[in-house]
Amino acid sequence: LDDLLGEGVSGRRVLVRADLNVPLDKQTAEITDDGRIRAVLPTLSALVQAGAKVVVCSHLGRPKGAPDPQFSLRPVAGRLGELLGAPVHFAEDTVGESARSTVEGLADGQVALLENLRFNKGETSKDDAERGAFADQLAAFGEAYVDDAFGAVHRKHASVYDVPARLPHVAGRLVLREVEVLSKLTGAPERPYVVVLGGSKVSDKLAVIEALLPTVDRLLIGGGMCFTFLKAQGHEVGTSLLEEEMVETCRNLLERSEGKIMLPVDVVAADAFAPDAAHDTVRADGIPSHRLGLDIGPETVAGFAAAISQAKTIFWNGPMGVFEMPAFAAGTRGIAEAITKTDAFSVVGGGDSAAAVRSLRLDETDFDHISTGGGASLEYLEGKKLPGIAALED
Ligand code: 3PG
Repeated sequence: LDDLLGEGVSGRRVLVRADLNVPLDKQTAEITDDGRIRAVLPTLSALVQAGAKVVVCSHLGRPKGAPDPQFSLRPVAGRLGELLGAPVHFAEDTVGESARSTVEGLADGQVALLENLRFNKGETSKDDAERGAFADQLAAFGEAYVDDAFGAVHRKHASVYDVPARLPHVAGRLVLREVEVLSKLTGAPERPYVVVLGGSKVSDKLAVIEALLPTVDRLLIGGGMCFTFLKAQGHEVGTSLLEEEMVETCRNLLERSEGKIMLPVDVVAADAFAPDAAHDTVRADGIPSHRLGLDIGPETVAGFAAAISQAKTIFWNGPMGVFEMPAFAAGTRGIAEAITKTDAFSVVGGGDSAAAVRSLRLDETDFDHISTGGGASLEYLEGKKLPGIAALED
């Protein structure tokens, strides 16, 4: 971005790809966590101050290539305007008449937000020509392109991969910071290096577990995915979340892990997946057949916290339990607090864990970095070449 600002952007149209994919309340469409909007402010403010005509584009959710009101970016435009302290001009479509007139009407230092990129089939198309045609329309709105959508850099989508081939392109402040921080983890992290993984599915995390096992000193596993590992150890998991087809893979990982993988020794098990369900702490090797684990237990929190206290580098991805329900939030809170008590270099990755930090009202500044990337930060740690970053590297 500094290169672009150095050239001077006053009066120039700059197209910024942001990741404004924020969670919305299903009933009210209110934004429940604006972390991703805040994260892009340094880039947008710098462009505004430099007098650029800023055209912002983003996806929200996973609409199917056609307009769908529940995925409209309109509420995001309002919030972005509040945070920037100036109204954001909202275009009712992405590359249509409304977008064209909104962009043409921009004065220097003003910001426009286009409607959801994924209302257009071309954005996510696997067909190069279809994606390219959409990228042509989008690129016409800018004289330069800034990628600040770290959360989407792992997607080979038109706005991420094809537009930078059509315009002078730079990384925004957020993308740069994310890459700087995450590359410390893939480089030579200071040891002991402790990784905490949670979330619901082993299958989503398998590649990152494989990639991390050789480099980490300890891999602590909680969240819904721990039950497939507990099953692989031969334990009964009741009606807990289970990926039957992954049990063998987990057994194999445990055998190869040289004792690095730590699993829960106790869990909070409930009668039902409900905030007011009856629940108890039970041993992880004896979950009653009619109960399901919804959080890690206090003894596990203590054991994980002890491992965390030894660490010099920590990466945490995925909640330890159903933290949205207060009865099952203690595990996630306990692990987050343990991380904040260390002097280790700590990185939180993944939308859910970042949202947990904010919704449990923990101090974000106690962590060295809270990544805006979910899949993107995991794929980065897997060592994959990410299309959005590759597109910026001439
Ligand atoms: C995310 O939420 O991880 C990013 O916004 C990417 O969204 P996607 O998984 O729908 O591509």
